[in-house]
Amino acid sequence: MSHDLFEAARGAMAFAHAPYSKFPVGAAIRAEDGKVYTGANIENLSFPQGWCAEPTAISAMIMGGAKKIVEMAVIAEKLPLCPPCGGCRQKISEFASKGTKIYLCDETGVKKTMTMDELLPFSFETELG
Ligand code: THU
Repeated sequence: MSHDLFEAARGAMAFAHAPYSKFPVGAAIRAEDGKVYTGANIENLSFPQGWCAEPTAISAMIMGGAKKIVEMAVIAEKLPLCPPCGGCRQKISEFASKGTKIYLCDETGVKKTMTMDELLPFSFETELG
């Protein structure tokens, strides 16, 4: 992975709205158009209404006109590496391939690289998609 994706995820983390958990998370996607789309977690006083950094980045990608995650980086300030939560794994998989690489980062860089299939093995698949 080129350094820019990690830097983009770390930069995005600064935009987190996480006053309740105080657990900022950042995500960055390189899409098939070559552009980088970023996101941060956005919490809400009504706790279940908040959402994770990964879907924010996915939303940015979709609204930018892209559809395919080529590679993705995730970072959380307070974890040495931040594996995406279960719901996020499903959301990411909608736009990724089994071999898509996901980089789990800390403040200094990539700490672990995983494929989509490693993160979400035996995933839900139907003839619909
Ligand atoms: N969070 C993410 O943004 N991504 C994940 O994959 C795990 C959790 C956020 C949600 C919440 O705002 C905070 O981290 C604490 O759970």
